[in-house]
Amino acid sequence: MKISPQDGKALGVVVEGFDANTATAQDIAELKKAVYTSKIAVLKNQHLDPEEFLGLGKKMGEVAEYYEPVYHHPKVKEVFVSSNVKEDDGKQVGVPKTGKFWHSDYQFMPRPFDLTLIYPQVVPSRNRGTFFINMADAYQSLSEDLKLAVKGTTATHSVLRYFKIRPDDVYRPISEIIDEVNGKTPPVVSPTAVEHPHTGETVLYISEGFTMSVQDADGTSRPDLLQELLEATGQLDRTYEHENIHLQTFEKGDMLVWDNRSLIHRALHTATPEPAVSYRVTVYDD
Ligand SMILES: [Fe+2]
Repeated sequence: MKISPQDGKALGVVVEGFDANTATAQDIAELKKAVYTSKIAVLKNQHLDPEEFLGLGKKMGEVAEYYEPVYHHPKVKEVFVSSNVKEDDGKQVGVPKTGKFWHSDYQFMPRPFDLTLIYPQVVPSRNRGTFFINMADAYQSLSEDLKLAVKGTTATHSVLRYFKIRPDDVYRPISEIIDEVNGKTPPVVSPTAVEHPHTGETVLYISEGFTMSVQDADGTSRPDLLQELLEATGQLDRTYEHENIHLQTFEKGDMLVWDNRSLIHRALHTATPEPAVSYRVTVYDD
């Protein structure tokens, strides 16, 4: 196994010669260390079926199953499927247009995932990739005033704004759906800045997609502060040229493993999408 920095990029390493089926505990420990420090690992030349992909997840930690079955792979439920391709019988497997907003995976849940593994299956010929922002670096680059303003505040996260209406939900009153979403996944509150348990970094834990509000210690909502933080970290830049934004591309056979504690990400979807299918396994690492 060879781990080398990604050419010309601030983030990420490339991992060659990694065999998920025969990887030793030491290989896995090295891989995880690289993910914590470099945030993204691109594993080259992977040829895994969904069972083997799940097996790799289990080597990395405790695999988490997504709470909504509509996303599950039909044979391996722990594999989350993002797909805009219909099966031959016209059935939709997985969910299309996932993650087209800044977020970290499961940020709206009491226990967000630690590691995300993405394994593209059908790779578009152009416009493929995912945007990332390293929120540990983004915190470091805040002005001292903003860092001070963040101190002692909390952030509230919810899936509500980007919850996807299902075919079965058509003609249901929106208020009923909202109540159902809030009942199933009530908003969660976390410190706005959290310490990364493996690196000691301070990570700014907010996203444009899931963070509904930031509040002072006494509970006073601070929409101004949330807005300033989203702006400063690059999440409101629709040109995606902000210096914090990293575009991670991939090719067939690549698997991306990333540090979901530090990174927020956003899918790159275009107005005229090509077929794209991707599998995901998410892991708690301790
Ligand atoms: Fe995601």
